[in-house]
Amino acid sequence: MRHVVVVLLAVLCVCDAVKFGQLCKGNPTNSRRTSDSWGQGHYGAGRGTRQHQGLDIVCSDGSTVYAPFDVTLNGNVKVYTDPNKTTINNGINLSGEGLCFKLFYVLPDRTSGTVRKGQRIGTMLPMQRVYPGITSHIHVQMCDKSDPARYFL
Ligand SMILES: *[C@@H]1O[C@H](CO)[C@@H](O)[C@H](O)[C@H]1NC(C)=O
Ligand SMILES: *[C@@H]1O[C@H](CO)[C@@H](O)[C@H](O)[C@H]1NC(C)=O
Repeated sequence: MRHVVVVLLAVLCVCDAVKFGQLCKGNPTNSRRTSDSWGQGHYGAGRGTRQHQGLDIVCSDGSTVYAPFDVTLNGNVKVYTDPNKTTINNGINLSGEGLCFKLFYVLPDRTSGTVRKGQRIGTMLPMQRVYPGITSHIHVQMCDKSDPARYFL
């Protein structure tokens, strides 16, 4: 019995150990968007009739975006259908460390291949033009729509 518990704990610790490295230049700790006039940045925050399905990490417009760990690029992602938001309507689907996730509001340098941790993957789009006064941010969304917070410090 004791062996089973030890093995289970070891497995859980491996899963929990996956943490995102720095995503955005100028934000080495992946600090999160808290609250601004447009809403809150945590998973589950209200978005009109919907709920926020990601976690928002602070990133200034035009900043370099980095691979948070060794990743495979799985193609580009469109965030909106609204033509008024074309300026920031881009993102990328990534996988690595056993996780599949998407980063919104990022213009990717490339959309296939692999990138090592800390290397650039793209540029933060000009979010202030679409949402004046918002805390500009990268939206991190897991492909399975679960809460990304456990993968951040
Ligand atoms: C992201 O890429 C993965 C791997 O190719 C794929 O299984 C998944 O469906 C993609 N998700 C979205 C939302 O594009
Ligand atoms: C786009 O912006 C125009 C001008 O502000 C507005 O009239 C229109 O309703 C907007 N479209 C959508 C889909 O929000």
